[in-house]
Amino acid sequence: MFANHYEDVSALGLGCQRLEAFAIISQMPPPAASRTLLLDRFERPLRDLRISVTDRCNFRCVYCMPKEVFGKDFQFLDRKALLTFEELERLARIFRGIGIEKIRLTGGEPLVRRNLEALIGKLAAIEGLDLTLTTNGSLLALKAARLREAGLRRVTVSLDSLDDTVFRAMNDVDFPVERVLAGIDAAAAAGLSPIKVNMVVKRGVNEDSIVPMARFFRERGHIVRFIEYMDVGHSNGWRMDEVVSAAEIVRRIDRELPLEPLQANYRGEVAQRWRYRDGSGEIGIIASVTQAFCRDCTRARLSAEGQIYTCLFATAGHDLRALLRGGAADEAIGESITAVWRQRSDRYSEIRGEHTVRLPKVEMSYIGG
Ligand code: GTP
Ligand code: 5AD
Ligand code: SF4
Ligand code: SF4
Repeated sequence: MFANHYEDVSALGLGCQRLEAFAIISQMPPPAASRTLLLDRFERPLRDLRISVTDRCNFRCVYCMPKEVFGKDFQFLDRKALLTFEELERLARIFRGIGIEKIRLTGGEPLVRRNLEALIGKLAAIEGLDLTLTTNGSLLALKAARLREAGLRRVTVSLDSLDDTVFRAMNDVDFPVERVLAGIDAAAAAGLSPIKVNMVVKRGVNEDSIVPMARFFRERGHIVRFIEYMDVGHSNGWRMDEVVSAAEIVRRIDRELPLEPLQANYRGEVAQRWRYRDGSGEIGIIASVTQAFCRDCTRARLSAEGQIYTCLFATAGHDLRALLRGGAADEAIGESITAVWRQRSDRYSEIRGEHTVRLPKVEMSYIGG
């Protein structure tokens, strides 16, 4: 497995604290959803649903939608193939009924889907749901206030560098960094909180942006999450030597802004939390490559056309749209989802290796981040 080629956190001198943090996590009580007993084959509950509302995006990030593949001739989903807002609301209520506690809207870029506020309004009305959204921030200055009014509480914005040249090269559509920063400011002004910022780190491309990003958002009270570059999809040409490990990311930040580990907010949290020792805020590290977290993975994903996937790295899904449009009752759809989850045995990041990296996995822009 690739993870074995990497330095361990213990090599950092920060390792003991990390191990303590793991020990705290493993003693935490299971979340409420696990008591409802919809468990997969490794006894993991279904707790989160990530809904891709469109496979389209106005960026062409090199690690996600490289232009050579997602060019003029690329066939995106036909509008009629997309689940309508009514269908999405219905599915969300069915998922809520079988125990999910969080919905994250993703894409592609979710804000390019027309009138997304209307969907937010419908989903925000579902009781007991943590509703959130991951966006590239390009339309946030325009839409933040409307999203908040519709009932969105918090948001995650993807941003890979504060260096305009680096950022324009990474989004590959020459999009300026100030406009994403304006979107983040608009989100804060609209009362969306907390604001999290996702930075994918790619060796030789933006590792020099790690510390500036940490410093900048620490001053503004937003939480940056540094993400190891992953082999999602099958078109980004992923190579292990382009991954900057979580250990290296922590070491780079810790050298300038001393860090200490924090307890997870909930069992199975994707990001490992660290805080600045001077109390000035926190960051997250998402180490899917060097420290896989499949053991506690509670996430299902729904593509924009209604296929449900039980892993980010899946090669096949299960069609819920056919059930929705074929007249199935809510109970039957719920049973179908339950059956899919009970069969689930995914643990891709734990078994990643030469043989898995080149599999024809679905693209992240299709399945959602
Ligand atoms: P919070 O609800 O704010 O705690 O967010 P989260 O922990 O669900 O994180 P978020 O949805 O923002 O995910 C951040 C990034 O982590 C994603 O964009 C993916 O790159 C990666 N990620 C999220 N879930 C998974 C997963 O199940 N497997 C893998 N390998 N990566 C994931
Ligand atoms: N590796 C890691 N993260 C990725 N994302 C997209 N592609 C990759 C990849 N190959 C992240 C984006 C965004 C979220 C939707 O997923 O940066 O924050
Ligand atoms: Fe678009 Fe997000 Fe993929 Fe970038 S990472 S191309 S912003 S969907
Ligand atoms: Fe979950 Fe698959 Fe990611 Fe593992 S690789 S954490 S099973 S989505």
